[in-house]
Amino acid sequence: MKVDVLLGLQWGDEGKGKVVDVLTPRYDVVARFQGGPNAGHTLEFEGKKYVLRSIPSGVFQNENVNIIGGGVVLDPVLFAEEAKALEQSGVELKKILRISKKAHLILPTHRKLDAANEKAKGAARIGTTGKGIGPTYTDKISRNGLRVGDLLHDFDSKYAAAKKRHISMLEALGGDTDVADLEKQWFEAVEYLKEYPIVDSEYEINDYLKQGKSVLCEGAQGTMLDVDFGSYPFVTSSNTVTAGACTGLGVAPSRIGDVYGIFKAYCTRVGAGPFPTELFDETGKTIRDLGHEYGAVTGRERRCGWIDLVALKYAVMVDGVTKLIMMKSDVLDGFDTIKACVAYKVDGELTDRFPFDATGVDIEPVYRELPGWKTDMTAMKSADEFPQAFKDYIAFIEKELGVPVCIVSVGPDRSQTIELK
Ligand code: GDP
Ligand code: IMO
Ligand code: MG
Repeated sequence: MKVDVLLGLQWGDEGKGKVVDVLTPRYDVVARFQGGPNAGHTLEFEGKKYVLRSIPSGVFQNENVNIIGGGVVLDPVLFAEEAKALEQSGVELKKILRISKKAHLILPTHRKLDAANEKAKGAARIGTTGKGIGPTYTDKISRNGLRVGDLLHDFDSKYAAAKKRHISMLEALGGDTDVADLEKQWFEAVEYLKEYPIVDSEYEINDYLKQGKSVLCEGAQGTMLDVDFGSYPFVTSSNTVTAGACTGLGVAPSRIGDVYGIFKAYCTRVGAGPFPTELFDETGKTIRDLGHEYGAVTGRERRCGWIDLVALKYAVMVDGVTKLIMMKSDVLDGFDTIKACVAYKVDGELTDRFPFDATGVDIEPVYRELPGWKTDMTAMKSADEFPQAFKDYIAFIEKELGVPVCIVSVGPDRSQTIELK
């Protein structure tokens, strides 16, 4: 069996959670492969709204197995909060969720280091989510990390050594070293976490594949936030691209089947960093208001702008996208015209490539203007009902990106999802 991957093509918050939930009935297993509680994946159905952070978005449909893979970084406190809320709403999480031994643990001191690093950067700060993501992945790469599997044997001494190292780093940065309260909560949450199956997830997933079961890998963040291919250094600390599913779950590249690339009909970004099509005018504000563009977890205002086909083309290339999914098209329902960036002028030179250093150069987007569809899309049930201008917008994007659009989302609810032939 093949493994399909679903991931964001922009700067995150494309609507991954919603679509994973919609696609889940077609799969046996749903697995998160990277990121951590910096993610906020929103799902809406039957009048209820849920925001998932570390737990895969496949927990609400049937009885799929859900896996937190080894590429994920896990904060036991935030995990316990999220998991208990799901249990309270009737999800039998302990039966369906499995956690990789290889997932790295976010310690209380990692959160403090995240804050101290950001403070030390001053005006050059990334605008991180403050969840300790960067410091935890730093420890992983520098071979100092603690993993979920470590909780099972002789953990206290490993924890004490990590804490000591972190405290001296915090002292050097002038950061807050008082972790007593956070630590108490953390160790309580660890006891709860240990009630879940802690597994060798790479063996589990490959065993499922041998048995003919299908797997959907759920990405977090977006391609333009990838540590290698995103708008570095204004990125997250993991590989958000398709290849991250291989390293984060232990599935071989030859196993990858379809790659679903999700994008908004416009574009948003939260935190600092380059955003060539950002709008600073009334139109940007209108998109933010109509799209409720505020962080799912932090409530931070998201920066808004027109769709950027230069960045999207780049993402489609590095991810090997085979199917596109367009989200939040309803947000543009009222616009007379819609702009799409088809090229950049970088320091006066025309290009269709995303520049190496998008921070240090002057990027002027070159736009194509398309007619708006001026139709309420939110109640539509099938592609036959689409107005011509909307069909033209889809056809234009498909032609520019060279990949078919297979799903269009016209509202936040599970039911507001339309499949195209
Ligand atoms: P994720 O991180 O990629 O899962 O996305 P988020 O949950 O952070 O942000 C997407 C937001 O858009 C959420 O509030 C969703 O409920 C909402 N949403 C998803 N699809 C649509 C859509 O088609 N139309 C509208 N208006 N909202 C949507
Ligand atoms: P989902 O999965 C949008 C951004 C932060 C910051 C940068 C680094 O919901 O799409 P980090 O805390 O990861 O070190 O922050 O990445 N960021 C996200 N932006 N959606 C996300 O996740 C994000 N996760 C991180 O705002 O700019
Ligand atoms: Mg989000």
